[in-house]
Amino acid sequence: MSERTFVKEKVALGDAAKRVMEALPAGILLNTQGEKFNSMVIGWGAIGTVWRSAAFTVYVRQSRFTKELLDASGEFVISVPLGDPDPVINQVCGRQSGRDVDKEEAAGLTLVPGNKVNVPGIAEYPLTIECKVVYAQKQELSELPEEIVRVIYPEKVDESTGKAYRDAHTMYIGEIVDAYVIRKA
Ligand SMILES: Cc1cc2nc3c(=O)[nH]c(=O)nc-3n(C[C@H](O)[C@H](O)[C@H](O)COP(=O)(O)O)c2cc1C
Repeated sequence: MSERTFVKEKVALGDAAKRVMEALPAGILLNTQGEKFNSMVIGWGAIGTVWRSAAFTVYVRQSRFTKELLDASGEFVISVPLGDPDPVINQVCGRQSGRDVDKEEAAGLTLVPGNKVNVPGIAEYPLTIECKVVYAQKQELSELPEEIVRVIYPEKVDESTGKAYRDAHTMYIGEIVDAYVIRKA
């Protein structure tokens, strides 16, 4: 990890929110840190306000390695590209599990230590939002509209393929404790 070669420019959350909404459909990154660093692509997320604090909400399936790390640490960092997403980063972080690969190495990520959390940001995806989990709740599929369950959580999937499509998401609401853009010094 390298800090001296980078500077962090504070960003207004309104500007961050606009960029997050633009970038989400192609995928942004949810970083976690346990014994090793991990990052996964997310396409679902929300930036807003709850309980008088700015918050970032993410949705993580039960099967993700990310979930183990997030449950253990209670901290995460969102990394957002300012341009087009990097296809290698998307492939490694969006299709492979941190249980099987070291994503820092496999995706060629340059990690930059966090300010207020023990989770790094990523120089290649410079818009950085540091969060501390204040609430986590597993989604109740029985409370969802049938159409969403049919499409997003289909019943007829061979789970031996590793595609555990029936597993619900856990929603994590993270209080935003810092937000900035990483730039070369
Ligand atoms: C565009 C895109 C969006 C995704 N969005 C999510 C998401 O919001 N939540 C989720 O649990 N998985 C999502 N995934 C799947 C994870 O990124 C993928 O399963 C990843 O390999 C999990 O890594 P991990 O096991 O190291 O946590 C998405 C994948 C892609 C390609």
